[in-house]
Amino acid sequence: MSGVESLPARWPGKIMVMEFAERRVLVTGATRGIGHAAAKAFLASGARVAVNGRTEGSVARAVDSLGGGDHLVSAPGDISSADVCDTMVSDAVGELGGLDVLVNNAGVYFRGSMADTDETSWDYVFDANVKGLFLCSRAALPALRSSQGNIVNVASEAGLAGYADSTAYCASKGAVVNLTRSMAIELAPQIRVNCVCPGVIVTDLARAGFAIDGDEAAGLRQQESNYPVGRLGTPEEVAKAIIYLASDDAGFVNGIALPIEGGATAGG
Ligand SMILES: NC(=O)c1ccc[n+]([C@@H]2O[C@H](COP(=O)([O-])OP(=O)(O)OC[C@H]3O[C@@H](n4cnc5c(N)ncnc54)[C@H](O)[C@@H]3O)[C@@H](O)[C@H]2O)c1
Repeated sequence: MSGVESLPARWPGKIMVMEFAERRVLVTGATRGIGHAAAKAFLASGARVAVNGRTEGSVARAVDSLGGGDHLVSAPGDISSADVCDTMVSDAVGELGGLDVLVNNAGVYFRGSMADTDETSWDYVFDANVKGLFLCSRAALPALRSSQGNIVNVASEAGLAGYADSTAYCASKGAVVNLTRSMAIELAPQIRVNCVCPGVIVTDLARAGFAIDGDEAAGLRQQESNYPVGRLGTPEEVAKAIIYLASDDAGFVNGIALPIEGGATAGG
């Protein structure tokens, strides 16, 4: 059993209530994991939320699981190409009637040594994690400028430190951290831009990515030993940081990379 499964007893996972009444939010990759938890947190705080995911089916299921209703908008589309990003963002902005927050969360993991990383794998990682994030942000600029909104990017602890057998992923998340800083400077003062840098969070991505010979629980247990707090993180814990950075409470926070990793990178 992974340590995180014992969390609910001592950590109720309550969503803090920040004021997002009628704010308009687009979350990419919100069909499961961190993006889904973020969409849920924004909804609970009163926002209207556009849910992106690769396919119409996965988005429809996610919207359903979030309770449906007029605070939710379906925004399907694979963000790894410019045409899809432009159309998906413009449709979502149209349906929401504007945009206050873009959460660039969609991303993929590839586990492999440098020797095992072929061009297709490299492009798979960079197309989703870096190019898609850039394209969605670019498409959202007019709406965010007009609302004086903000962007929260989901980078990674792997954007702050290097790890073996994850070179393409680390490079892509390092790019997201520095892209965040560049965007924050270029787009100020109208648009704030920040990123979160989660450590291993128990989601499908981590279960599959760290499995040892197909054993997902063993993979997660092995990862736990890297964390001074003695456990892995939950999607809700990342969602809470995202919602803070997106809120007016973070009005003077711009261009930061916020580690959410139980102290894993604190030792340098
Ligand atoms: N889980 C972790 O340990 C961890 C740690 C650090 C950072 N992250 C980052 O957090 C983000 C979310 O990860 P997760 O763990 O929730 O993963 P996940 O696999 O559970 O969910 C990823 C979501 O992104 C969507 N997605 C992926 N590629 C897409 C594309 N090209 N177009 C549209 N949607 C796409 C998926 O459909 C899904 O909804 C990713 O950017 C990931 O790199 C995850």
